[in-house]
Amino acid sequence: FAGEQFASALLAWFDRNGRKHLPWQQQITPYRVWISEIMLQQTQVATVIPYYERFMQRFPDVRALAAADDDEVLHLWTGLGYYARARNLLRAARLIVAEHGGEFPDDIEAVQALPGIGRSTAGAILAISKAQRHPILDGNVKRVLTRCFGIQGFPGETAIERKLWALADACTPAQRVAHYTQAIMDLGATVCVRSRPLCVVCPMHEPCIARRDGMQAILPTPKPR
Ligand code: ADE
Repeated sequence: FAGEQFASALLAWFDRNGRKHLPWQQQITPYRVWISEIMLQQTQVATVIPYYERFMQRFPDVRALAAADDDEVLHLWTGLGYYARARNLLRAARLIVAEHGGEFPDDIEAVQALPGIGRSTAGAILAISKAQRHPILDGNVKRVLTRCFGIQGFPGETAIERKLWALADACTPAQRVAHYTQAIMDLGATVCVRSRPLCVVCPMHEPCIARRDGMQAILPTPKPR
């Protein structure tokens, strides 16, 4: 089961089942996708929506955010938790104004250099907002890939992590990369969930190694202890 087959099965599933009317999927810009990705990092979609709407009303673009009072940003964040995320957003917005003329950078190295944005989030922002082909590998994606391809070993280990990035790259299509990126995150968030995954409705039901071998509960491999 190869990367191209994975991508086409996932895209067909997304066309039928994917969420396409979320607030950050409208008027797509790098700024709007960035804010959504940061909010969604540790928080469920349903919780994020009203926070996202309020945040966008108050701070519709990078310059508005960069000019904000720290207190006002933290106030709008109250209830979302992980306040370091909000502090990093503000630092990054000010850096974008100071160093990139207020335009969200479109080069992955520059995006990754911003506070609070790692390799996966940088890839997701540019894939979704600019159709740039970059792999992503967050917790949801690690779960989907380790199960589907039967990758054993703790993903926190360097060798496993490298293997997963290579696999993530091999699966990422040249066409429809924005939909693909949203689709793999949706699959991990709604079907290939950590406990009791919904394998009967999964587009990877047939090829999935973990499903074939009954290993859903032990993949991804937990931290050795
Ligand atoms: N988690 C992180 N980013 C996400 C996204 N774009 N959609 C759903 N869940 C996510």
